Amino acid sequence: MMDYTKLAEKAVQAKKNALPTYSGFHVGTALLTAEGKIYTGSNIESSSYSLSICGERTAIFKALSEGERKFSALAIASDFDGYCPPCGSCRQVIHDLCGDIDIIMVNLDNELKIVKTSELLPLAFGDENIK
Ligand code: THU
Repeated sequence: MMDYTKLAEKAVQAKKNALPTYSGFHVGTALLTAEGKIYTGSNIESSSYSLSICGERTAIFKALSEGERKFSALAIASDFDGYCPPCGSCRQVIHDLCGDIDIIMVNLDNELKIVKTSELLPLAFGDENIK
Protein backbone atom coordinates (compact mmCIF):
# COMPACT_ATOMS: atom_id res chain seq x y z
CA MET A 1 0.00 0.00 0.00
CA MET A 2 1.19 3.52 -0.82
CA ASP A 3 2.40 5.80 1.97
CA TYR A 4 0.17 8.85 1.81
CA THR A 5 1.57 10.55 4.95
CA LYS A 6 3.09 13.48 3.04
CA LEU A 7 0.01 13.99 0.84
CA ALA A 8 -2.19 13.97 3.96
CA GLU A 9 0.06 16.57 5.63
CA LYS A 10 -0.24 18.82 2.56
CA ALA A 11 -4.03 18.59 2.71
CA VAL A 12 -4.02 19.51 6.41
CA GLN A 13 -1.71 22.49 5.71
CA ALA A 14 -3.95 23.63 2.83
CA LYS A 15 -6.86 24.04 5.28
CA LYS A 16 -5.13 27.25 6.39
CA ASN A 17 -5.80 28.80 2.98
CA ALA A 18 -9.53 28.03 3.02
CA LEU A 19 -11.94 30.97 2.70
CA PRO A 20 -15.06 29.59 4.38
CA THR A 21 -16.50 33.08 5.02
CA TYR A 22 -20.10 31.89 5.50
CA SER A 23 -19.97 28.25 6.62
CA GLY A 24 -16.87 28.53 8.81
CA PHE A 25 -16.00 24.99 7.64
CA HIS A 26 -12.39 24.65 6.44
CA VAL A 27 -11.42 22.08 3.81
CA GLY A 28 -7.88 21.45 2.55
CA THR A 29 -6.94 19.08 -0.25
CA ALA A 30 -3.84 17.74 -1.96
CA LEU A 31 -3.88 16.14 -5.41
CA LEU A 32 -1.02 13.84 -6.43
CA THR A 33 -0.13 13.60 -10.12
CA ALA A 34 1.05 10.37 -11.73
CA GLU A 35 4.54 11.87 -11.84
CA GLY A 36 4.57 12.72 -8.13
CA LYS A 37 3.79 16.43 -8.14
CA ILE A 38 1.33 17.79 -5.55
CA TYR A 39 -1.30 20.50 -6.13
CA THR A 40 -3.14 21.76 -3.06
CA GLY A 41 -6.62 23.26 -2.83
CA SER A 42 -9.09 24.69 -0.35
CA ASN A 43 -12.73 25.67 -0.30
CA ILE A 44 -13.48 29.25 -1.30
CA GLU A 45 -16.89 30.77 -0.63
CA SER A 46 -18.85 33.56 -2.36
CA SER A 47 -21.60 35.74 -0.86
CA SER A 48 -23.76 34.19 -3.57
CA TYR A 49 -23.37 30.86 -1.78
CA SER A 50 -23.88 28.52 -4.71
CA LEU A 51 -20.91 30.07 -6.51
CA SER A 52 -18.55 28.75 -3.85
CA ILE A 53 -16.12 25.99 -4.75
CA CYS A 54 -15.06 22.93 -2.79
CA GLY A 55 -11.45 22.20 -1.93
CA GLU A 56 -11.40 19.13 -4.15
CA ARG A 57 -12.35 21.01 -7.31
CA THR A 58 -9.96 23.84 -6.51
CA ALA A 59 -7.02 21.42 -6.53
CA ILE A 60 -8.24 19.55 -9.61
CA PHE A 61 -8.80 22.71 -11.68
CA LYS A 62 -5.51 24.21 -10.53
CA ALA A 63 -3.65 21.12 -11.72
CA LEU A 64 -5.55 20.78 -15.01
CA SER A 65 -5.03 24.46 -15.80
CA GLU A 66 -1.29 23.96 -15.33
CA GLY A 67 -1.36 21.21 -17.95
CA GLU A 68 -1.55 18.13 -15.71
CA ARG A 69 -3.68 15.28 -17.01
CA LYS A 70 -2.85 12.12 -15.04
CA PHE A 71 -3.51 11.73 -11.34
CA SER A 72 -3.09 9.02 -8.75
CA ALA A 73 -4.54 10.24 -5.44
CA LEU A 74 -6.46 13.03 -3.71
CA ALA A 75 -6.27 13.74 0.03
CA ILE A 76 -9.01 15.65 1.89
CA ALA A 77 -8.78 17.23 5.34
CA SER A 78 -11.45 19.30 7.10
CA ASP A 79 -12.79 20.60 10.41
CA PHE A 80 -15.10 17.58 10.68
CA ASP A 81 -14.33 15.28 13.59
CA GLY A 82 -14.26 12.23 11.35
CA TYR A 83 -13.53 11.43 7.71
CA CYS A 84 -14.91 14.10 5.37
CA PRO A 85 -15.96 12.52 2.05
CA PRO A 86 -16.16 14.54 -1.18
CA CYS A 87 -19.61 15.93 -2.02
CA GLY A 88 -21.63 14.50 -4.90
CA SER A 89 -20.59 17.21 -7.37
CA CYS A 90 -16.92 16.63 -6.63
CA ARG A 91 -17.35 12.87 -7.00
CA GLN A 92 -18.56 13.42 -10.56
CA VAL A 93 -15.65 15.78 -11.32
CA ILE A 94 -13.12 13.36 -9.81
CA HIS A 95 -14.60 10.51 -11.89
CA ASP A 96 -14.53 12.56 -15.11
CA LEU A 97 -11.18 14.31 -14.74
CA CYS A 98 -9.05 12.15 -12.43
CA GLY A 99 -10.42 8.65 -12.97
CA ASP A 100 -10.44 5.79 -10.49
CA ILE A 101 -7.84 7.21 -8.09
CA ASP A 102 -7.23 6.73 -4.37
CA ILE A 103 -9.24 9.16 -2.23
CA ILE A 104 -7.57 9.68 1.15
CA MET A 105 -9.72 11.17 3.92
CA VAL A 106 -7.78 12.62 6.86
CA ASN A 107 -9.38 13.04 10.29
CA LEU A 108 -8.37 15.45 13.05
CA ASP A 109 -5.95 12.88 14.53
CA ASN A 110 -4.22 12.63 11.13
CA GLU A 111 -5.51 9.09 10.62
CA LEU A 112 -6.31 8.05 7.06
CA LYS A 113 -9.20 6.26 5.40
CA ILE A 114 -8.59 5.33 1.76
CA VAL A 115 -11.24 4.52 -0.83
CA LYS A 116 -11.43 4.49 -4.62
CA THR A 117 -13.45 6.92 -6.77
CA SER A 118 -15.48 3.94 -7.99
CA GLU A 119 -16.50 3.09 -4.43
CA LEU A 120 -17.77 6.64 -3.88
CA LEU A 121 -19.57 6.83 -7.23
CA PRO A 122 -20.71 3.41 -8.40
CA LEU A 123 -22.56 3.17 -11.73
CA ALA A 124 -21.17 6.60 -12.65
CA PHE A 125 -22.29 8.64 -15.62
CA GLY A 126 -19.32 9.53 -17.82
CA ASP A 127 -17.69 9.99 -21.22
CA GLU A 128 -18.80 6.59 -22.48
CA ASN A 129 -22.47 7.52 -22.02
CA ILE A 130 -22.35 10.47 -24.39
CA LYS A 131 -20.52 8.87 -27.32
N1 THU B 1 -16.83 21.42 1.09
C1 THU B 1 -15.66 21.05 0.50
O1 THU B 1 -14.81 21.89 0.19
N2 THU B 1 -15.46 19.74 0.26
C2 THU B 1 -16.31 18.73 0.66
O2 THU B 1 -16.02 17.58 0.42
C3 THU B 1 -17.54 19.06 1.37
C4 THU B 1 -17.89 20.51 1.42
C5 THU B 1 -17.02 22.85 1.41
C6 THU B 1 -18.10 23.55 0.64
C7 THU B 1 -18.43 24.70 1.57
O3 THU B 1 -17.48 25.74 1.37
C8 THU B 1 -18.19 24.12 2.96
O4 THU B 1 -17.38 22.98 2.76
C9 THU B 1 -19.46 23.72 3.68
O5 THU B 1 -20.26 22.91 2.90
